[in-house]
Amino acid sequence: MKIAHISDLHFGSLSRPATESLIRHFHDDKPDLVVASGDITQDATCTEFEEARAFFDLLPMPVFCIPGNHDLPGMDLERFYDPWGRYKRFIAQDLEPELRTDLVHLKGINTARRVLAHWNWANGSVSQRQCRDTRRAFAASTAPWRVFVMHHPVMNAREMPLQVALFNRNRLLRCLDDTRVDIVLAGHQHHAYIENRLTDGHTTLFLNASTTTSLRIRRQPNGFNMLNFGEKSVRIDRMELCGDVFKIVSAESHTKA
Ligand SMILES: [Fe+2]
Ligand SMILES: [Fe+2]
Repeated sequence: MKIAHISDLHFGSLSRPATESLIRHFHDDKPDLVVASGDITQDATCTEFEEARAFFDLLPMPVFCIPGNHDLPGMDLERFYDPWGRYKRFIAQDLEPELRTDLVHLKGINTARRVLAHWNWANGSVSQRQCRDTRRAFAASTAPWRVFVMHHPVMNAREMPLQVALFNRNRLLRCLDDTRVDIVLAGHQHHAYIENRLTDGHTTLFLNASTTTSLRIRRQPNGFNMLNFGEKSVRIDRMELCGDVFKIVSAESHTKA
């Protein structure tokens, strides 16, 4: 099973050439599923969401999507009385989807908040309820691979281009350890990397994606991750935009213990 992990599309601050290359790539390569780990829009306007919806509709495979901090209206009253109304109207009713296949069990959560007890509301948070839901979801898991999707990264890259705070991070790490999640997909930093965490003989991979289609690149070009799942091992191809084509720039394989 092949899953493409895209992130931080930022419709409203979009690179048209990158987007066109991505659509071509997905039509040629045909992953079974696309996972989008938040920041679908730049300013959460209806026009941006409409464009994002049109983009998703062009893809020949299903999309598993969660929101990011940019998918909340900015300093707009709607942020407070109906923060996810636009996202739900155009992208998906479910902010925390779950998908089970024979091989992979995916669970997403929404870490963006309309208000945070911090000067920077772009940061994220994880609630007790979200950890409970995640534990419940994975307790019933029969698939060999457990994949968790969120916008704000849990692990910090060695050379981060953006400082991120995830409130209640340790609570989430305990939950991911206990449920023996195999892979965590995230974005937000516009920086691709893989970090490993080993707990009681189980390895969890924390996989971040660069911004796939936006002009808001930091140190890396536009990119995404392609995950090729087998029963016991997964190969992760890091894709980057080279000219007008997405190409593999590195590949890593991981085998389950
Ligand atoms: Fe972003
Ligand atoms: Fe973000």
